[in-house]
Amino acid sequence: MTVDRGPLVIEDLALQFGGVAALRNVSVTHEPDEVLGVIGPNGAGKTSLINCITGIYRPTSGRIERNGQRLDGLRPEAIVATGIARTFQHNQLCGQLTVRENVLLGCHRRLGYGMVKAALRIGPAWRAESRLRAEVGPILELLGLADIADDRADSLPYGLQKRTEMARALALRPQVLLLDEPAAGTSDEDRESLVAIIRRIRDHGSCSVLLIEHDVRMVMEVSDRVAVLDWGECLMVDRPAVVAADERVVAAYLGVDEDALELPDLETS
Ligand SMILES: Nc1ncnc2c1ncn2[C@@H]1O[C@H](COP(=O)(O)OP(=O)(O)O)[C@@H](O)[C@H]1O
Ligand SMILES: [Mg+2]
Repeated sequence: MTVDRGPLVIEDLALQFGGVAALRNVSVTHEPDEVLGVIGPNGAGKTSLINCITGIYRPTSGRIERNGQRLDGLRPEAIVATGIARTFQHNQLCGQLTVRENVLLGCHRRLGYGMVKAALRIGPAWRAESRLRAEVGPILELLGLADIADDRADSLPYGLQKRTEMARALALRPQVLLLDEPAAGTSDEDRESLVAIIRRIRDHGSCSVLLIEHDVRMVMEVSDRVAVLDWGECLMVDRPAVVAADERVVAAYLGVDEDALELPDLETS
């Protein structure tokens, strides 16, 4: 069976909150199997973009499409069902559950059983349980969580909690994974692992990754292309080396994070 995996097309997207334009005519195409980084100073509209794609915000104008289906205007659950999953900027795990149980919740959500039936282990949720447990194994491996699968989520350092959130999103078996600041509040070591994990998701998870991240250095390292948002506008979308050399990008970051754009090892070819 061939699975439809077209690009996620964002066209002329605008989002207005009263007098504030969170997004202004943003157009960007997120290709299958690519890591697309989205950078921009605080308030640039990065989270708003993810919120529009996932149906949390309804854009004021413009369109979002994938595989010939219009996504803007659909409810969040309907958008998840088309193969788009996300993590949140602020942690949304169930702290008292283990890593494995949190990831299982992602599976249950995909099958529409909801959390209560899953937790009480009743009905079809319970019958599906052993099959789902087998599905969770490879996801935990992919994210390097297998050794701590039975630890409570709230006992883990923040970086591993963020990774558990990513695992739970992957349990929805998405074709597009949206990550909102997965490196925020994590250690340098966590960031290095995160780069490797994002590449693994792209290469072995049959999933494209749209990565919003404040850590520009990390975005440049892991992304195939980078989109730059500034005051709700998309300044450019290009390869990391091109973006890092662009004077508009440097200007957008001046006084914010000048060091972030000193990037040692980017291919310029
Ligand atoms: N729910 C909301 N209500 C009002 N204004 C909002 C809302 N969400 C975002 N904004 C505004 O939209 C702009 C972009 O915000 P956001 O997308 O969170 O930026 P980023 O994630 O890049 O920091 C900001 O000016 C912010 O205050
Ligand atoms: Mg944000």
